[in-house]
Amino acid sequence: MDGETASLDQLILKALPCPVLVVDTGGILIYLNSASERELGVKKEEVISRPLTESLYQGKKFDHRGRYSSALIETLETGREFSLRLEEIKTALYIVPKVFLVDTSILRNQDGGVLGACAIYHNFLRDRRLLKETVMNRLTTVSEQFETIYAFAEAIGARDQYTMGHSEKVAEYARLIAEALGLSEKDVDLAYICGIVHDVGKIGVPENILNKPGALTAQEFKQITSHPEKGAAILSHISWLEHVVPVVLAHHERYDGRGYPQGLRGEEIPLLSRILAVADAFDAMTSDRSYRKALPVPVAIDELKRHAGGQFDPRVVEAFMRILGEYKE
Ligand SMILES: [Fe+2]
Repeated sequence: MDGETASLDQLILKALPCPVLVVDTGGILIYLNSASERELGVKKEEVISRPLTESLYQGKKFDHRGRYSSALIETLETGREFSLRLEEIKTALYIVPKVFLVDTSILRNQDGGVLGACAIYHNFLRDRRLLKETVMNRLTTVSEQFETIYAFAEAIGARDQYTMGHSEKVAEYARLIAEALGLSEKDVDLAYICGIVHDVGKIGVPENILNKPGALTAQEFKQITSHPEKGAAILSHISWLEHVVPVVLAHHERYDGRGYPQGLRGEEIPLLSRILAVADAFDAMTSDRSYRKALPVPVAIDELKRHAGGQFDPRVVEAFMRILGEYKE
């Protein structure tokens, strides 16, 4: 390869917004582009020339389901190449893993000899076009339905930046909890969608009340606590979201029966709502808000445990603890 071509290749890799990783035949990371540092939260000097499994997968070649943790390593060892394989990577940026859709290839020299394997990682949350091709296609064949979900998410985000990022994180936590509880693939997808739209009813609550730093009057409190019903009413106009409506309606119910709007208790509350309640509380506690700083993660974990069986379904808290434990440093 002449010098000019090589430098163009390098410029392209540098310009790409998606992480690109290359390992040699021994699984040692021999290349990462600039986006990898940003998106995966790693420093080049700390991970280059080291085994990929150690740097990004906590030394675990296989996950708890016995599957390869890394599509790239699987390609290297089995020769199977992947297109848009769903993969979770624990980054330094989030406590739970970030989800990517990964394309992998065997890397060969001009004579066909294997040099290693390479992969490109598409950010699952950011690249919504890819999301449409995976989650929504599994759930439904009508692609417009995906746009509907994100239209709602954008509508909420346009008013309240916190809620926008919050919805995506709650969706991600809910998806992981649903999976850990062994729910069907369809329900795992549904958990994600419910997470995205759960606070859509806040569209109907005045902005000054939503962002009010001090104590709320009884009237203001009533307005805020009306958002599950408002959300359910909005979503009920969309026939394919019929399974989402009862989940959104009950996302502020409490396991001990002291929630709202109906004061449902225990198993009366839809399971996905009980999952959302835990995901929602955890993200709310661990995020900075205009009126208070984020709580440290261990404190938030203690709070969830303390309220297991009271505010929260203990089975759901237990599943979430398993997830957090798995990804803890
Ligand atoms: Fe809510």
